[in-house]
Amino acid sequence: MAKKREDGYLSGREARRIQKENRRIINEFEKKRKRKNVPESEYLTTMHDPGNAVEFDDLHTFFFTDSGTVHSVDGVTFSVPIGKTVGVVGESGCGKSVTSLSLMQLVQRPQGQIVSGEIRLNLGNKAYEISKVPQEKMQTIRGNVVSMIFQEPMTSLNPVFRIGDQVDEVIALHDGEGKSKEEIKQRTIEALEMVGIANSEGVYRMYPHELSGGMRQRVMIAMSLACNPKVIIADEPTTALDVTIQAQILDLLRNLKDRINSSIMLITHDLGVIAEMADYVVVMYAGRVVEQGTAEDIFYHPAHPYTMGLMASKPVVGKHVEQLYSIPGKVPNPVNMPDYCYFRDRCEMCVKECSGAYPHMISLSDTHKVSCYRFLEEHRKDAENPEKMPSAVREMMEAMKRLHEDNDSVKAEEGEV
Ligand SMILES: Nc1ncnc2c1ncn2[C@@H]1O[C@H](COP(=O)(O)OP(=O)(O)OP(=O)(O)O)[C@@H](O)[C@H]1O
Ligand code: SF4
Ligand SMILES: [Mg+2]
Repeated sequence: MAKKREDGYLSGREARRIQKENRRIINEFEKKRKRKNVPESEYLTTMHDPGNAVEFDDLHTFFFTDSGTVHSVDGVTFSVPIGKTVGVVGESGCGKSVTSLSLMQLVQRPQGQIVSGEIRLNLGNKAYEISKVPQEKMQTIRGNVVSMIFQEPMTSLNPVFRIGDQVDEVIALHDGEGKSKEEIKQRTIEALEMVGIANSEGVYRMYPHELSGGMRQRVMIAMSLACNPKVIIADEPTTALDVTIQAQILDLLRNLKDRINSSIMLITHDLGVIAEMADYVVVMYAGRVVEQGTAEDIFYHPAHPYTMGLMASKPVVGKHVEQLYSIPGKVPNPVNMPDYCYFRDRCEMCVKECSGAYPHMISLSDTHKVSCYRFLEEHRKDAENPEKMPSAVREMMEAMKRLHEDNDSVKAEEGEV
């Protein structure tokens, strides 16, 4: 851990010590990564549940920076089932992107490294442990098995090449063996049509700046799905778009996912997007998973004070408030994480155990898990009692309950018809 002087700065000596230590650690990781002709047996593994497309298991991804080690992902465990959408939610800087980049082996190297834990990727007839897969093999996995839709299409598309050339290149690289230029172009046109671009021949010849934001995001989706990947990572796919286009893109993603039966890992800080799309939800805070469950678990029975805070800070239909709730305080410094619950300094529902070590995951049901001392057996009754919650959280829970009951009665009526 970096030792700071009283004025908060590192001494020259301490900075040199950190740099030397970082070089040593990074060199070790890089040496392993750059090995050639690694036998497949070294990175073959078995899925713990063959129904999962991806399993993150106690993943630790750190950045070794000059001011200390950033614990961006600090023991993340969750799975993405085949054919399902898993929403990953949490505020800025909590490690959502670094988790997904770890799966693609695209964490910024050399300072960013997967330090420990496993990422198991299901390839159907076998499974790979991604952190051990060598670079050249990874090139055959990216795009073909796992692909990523990035947040800002303008920065992800190359401004000096035509759309057609950029999509052609993806198809040629991943699936172009034995195909003529004309056949590849045909595949590109089909991919553009699949994402709802009507004038596909015209768009094929255009440059990115000639398209609107929604069209560019459609092109990005076409590129990501061109090779029918098993897992699609959508990192904030609609953040740069207005709400009508956002709804269209989400619809498109849902339909395409069903058509090619892939799994989606949907990263966002927008709970509305999660509610619309996700089967399962993972809530991350400061590099760790604090709560996970089905979308219904998380939306109608949120358990972790952080999840409750996130929900209370969103407008809910039927909830009238003068001012929206905001979670007090800020995320701890990822270079200097505390050894107790990372949320404690912001938590309004502490119990006496909270000053102890970081809380373990507690299962509330087969699907719902939370990492919080309030759900220890002796506190469970209070934890579920709305009277013991802050008023903003209580109001949010009541509004969500009403919404749930309304949804249930709509479903019952539809069933009767
Ligand atoms: N290249 C890097 N070097 C050093 N630290 C990094 C680097 N990339 C990410 N981090 C740190 O890792 C942590 C997690 O970042 P990450 O990008 O995963 O956050 P996020 O949850 O995706 O946030 P956002 O919602 O803003 O996209 C942050 O504290 C960030 O500062
Ligand atoms: S463990 Fe304690 S401090 Fe942490 S979220 Fe739960 S109640 Fe709050
Ligand atoms: Mg991000």
